[in-house]
Amino acid sequence: MSQLFPELYTKGSKIWIKHSTDVWQCAVIKVNFSQKDKSLVVEDEEEQEITLPVKDLSCLPPLRNPDILIGANDLTSLSYLHEPAVLYNLRVRFLEQSAIYTWCGIVLVAINPFCDLEIYGEETIQTYHKSQGAAQLDPHIYAVSEDAYSKLERDDRNQSIIVSGESGAGKTVSAKFAMRYFASIAGTDSSNIENRVLASNPIMEAIGNAKTNRNDNSSRFGKYIQILFDRQSRAITGGNMRTYLLEKSRVSRQSEGERNFHIFYQMCTYAQQNNLKHLKLDSNTEFAYLASIEPTPYDDMDRFIEAMQCLGFTEKQQNLIYNVVAAILHAGNIEFTRIDDEKCCLSDDSEPHLQTFCSLLGLDSSATKQWLTHRLLKTGMRELITTTLTAELAQYGRDALLKFIYETMFSWIVALINKALGPTNTSVTYPFIGVLDIYGFEHFETNSFEQFCINYANEVLQQQFNQHVFKLEQEEYVREGIDWQFITFTDNQPVIDIIEAKPIGILCLLDEECKMPKDNQPVIDIIEAKPIGILCLLDEECKMPKGTDETWGAKLYSQITLGEVFQKPKFGSRNSFIIQHFADTVVYNVEGFLEKNRDTIWDEQIDLLKRSTVVDVLFSDGLSGEPTQKSGGKIKITPQQQSQKQQKQAKATVGSQFRDSLAALMKTLNATEPHYVRCIKPNDNKGGFEFNNIRAVQQLRACGVLETIR
Ligand SMILES: Nc1ncnc2c1ncn2[C@@H]1O[C@H](COP(=O)(O)OP(=O)(O)OP(=O)(O)O)[C@@H](O)[C@H]1O
Ligand SMILES: [Mg+2]
Repeated sequence: MSQLFPELYTKGSKIWIKHSTDVWQCAVIKVNFSQKDKSLVVEDEEEQEITLPVKDLSCLPPLRNPDILIGANDLTSLSYLHEPAVLYNLRVRFLEQSAIYTWCGIVLVAINPFCDLEIYGEETIQTYHKSQGAAQLDPHIYAVSEDAYSKLERDDRNQSIIVSGESGAGKTVSAKFAMRYFASIAGTDSSNIENRVLASNPIMEAIGNAKTNRNDNSSRFGKYIQILFDRQSRAITGGNMRTYLLEKSRVSRQSEGERNFHIFYQMCTYAQQNNLKHLKLDSNTEFAYLASIEPTPYDDMDRFIEAMQCLGFTEKQQNLIYNVVAAILHAGNIEFTRIDDEKCCLSDDSEPHLQTFCSLLGLDSSATKQWLTHRLLKTGMRELITTTLTAELAQYGRDALLKFIYETMFSWIVALINKALGPTNTSVTYPFIGVLDIYGFEHFETNSFEQFCINYANEVLQQQFNQHVFKLEQEEYVREGIDWQFITFTDNQPVIDIIEAKPIGILCLLDEECKMPKDNQPVIDIIEAKPIGILCLLDEECKMPKGTDETWGAKLYSQITLGEVFQKPKFGSRNSFIIQHFADTVVYNVEGFLEKNRDTIWDEQIDLLKRSTVVDVLFSDGLSGEPTQKSGGKIKITPQQQSQKQQKQAKATVGSQFRDSLAALMKTLNATEPHYVRCIKPNDNKGGFEFNNIRAVQQLRACGVLETIR
């Protein structure tokens, strides 16, 4: 820390002072500083003299690096390493050298240039691949990829490239370049496997990406793709993908200025161009689920179709996707007319849409009509009665059904991709490089269940990062023969506990009790130290027949101790709670948490789908209805296991499924050697080579890069 050397604060030396719009501004010291001084006189860039109070030496402002060091391609080579130094160095490299990549120790910082650069060609790939020790080369996503590839061989250890950053920062683009790198250097002459791995991208983008206010091609799901290599030849031999938390609510509702998933628009254009009359997607029909039909660069279906063909999707499978997509659009146009306070019926205009929906999905139209407007209610142990639905409930049920169909199709497509990428020899375990492209920390004006899950995932990833950096430092101490030192890093375990702690079971408590025959204080400590977490309280409330978002909110306050991590807003409603995340403080609104966690879909409607001879395949291919996929195509499931699995799944809430899939991801990541890419979005207007200091600092603070260099 520069502040520890007060003798460096001499007349003419440059320092950094806080600035309202630039975050940090350069200033020059006017008078030599001596230890007993209580202030420092400096002159800012506007030639204004400022006297900075210096209560103690820790209040001295950060020193600026000598000009000769500025623009270094590894931040750790700077003499002074602090927030203003990092920010300024990144800015200079970006604006003056058009250098978007910078090393920050083991992390590659990637700033989105928002324009195409000539730095990704085949020649560049070969330069990185032929280099000895990519770390010495200029920072680049290819340098990270090469490092992972060479370590896979050298250390005989699986590798992961963890890409993070906020929406529009360039995660998916980075992940695709990494995949392209591997396809290029480890492709095969005979099989087409590397192209199949790449073909997964346009498919996933069509069904999982959408235009949002922050990114025209925003991934609305998280993805971890493993590229498998042959142990001997190191050529790509297969792939496997897991996805996380698809934002299916987008199917039925989009925020102002946003769109539905690209596939819906692609399908309309394609059907019109190719005269697919049976889909009834002519340009005269307006679809309620399509927010904006203004053309965008993402409306062309050619790459999607090419990719499906490359992956060997059969014509029947392709047609099923077309049918499902079109059917969802038609069913979204089914409206309900109120008959009285308890009953509704389909509006007259809805009839043709209902017919198309049913014919495309092979459903019985009178049964469909029945279960769109009625429900079965349990009255006794075994008794069921049919009850009518209000127009509002019917609409809710329709949306839930269509979101479910879409999500099921999404999972089924992921399973098909995994089948197509699966290596021919399934009895061998192959070394792999995994690429994680997962949503970064989110903080909006209103934060709901989705932001809660996303930020929880980021806490867990941040902890993984901290632990890795900590481990590396320890190893270095041992290597250099330095006495073991304790390096402090912000431990975010308390935040993770408050989110995910499970109640301790009776058996576990009993075990503890048996170990401690005399004194039960340790048991009490355990109970008190780890109160039940937010997700478990949410699950419990979802099981309560009368549970509401508000009753859950009240329970949070009665069961979770207020403190640094979990806080109550000073003003405003009881309907919100605050979590101090490692990246920022976020206020969550409880509204909608229960419903989003329950994610109810009525059994009668599911039965309807299962009776169809068209969409039954979506359910029978093993992995449907499951937001996250296990390794696809490898496990055979018997019908009995299938139904047990589905019954079990029916009970699992979205939150608990997410927690489990995150735990599985961490287990995988922890068994690999990680490589970190932090993407930064330098401005909000997608301006080419525009750098906004405030936005950049926000993200640097949130991605944990600054923490590791303190
Ligand atoms: N390396 C790059 N070179 C040129 N343009 C880029 C680069 N990285 C990102 N972009 C531009 O930024 C846009 C957004 O990038 P990308 O879709 O990868 O963001 P993301 O981090 O995946 O966002 P989200 O979380 O919303 O999915 C791209 O469509 C592209 O226009
Ligand atoms: Mg993305």
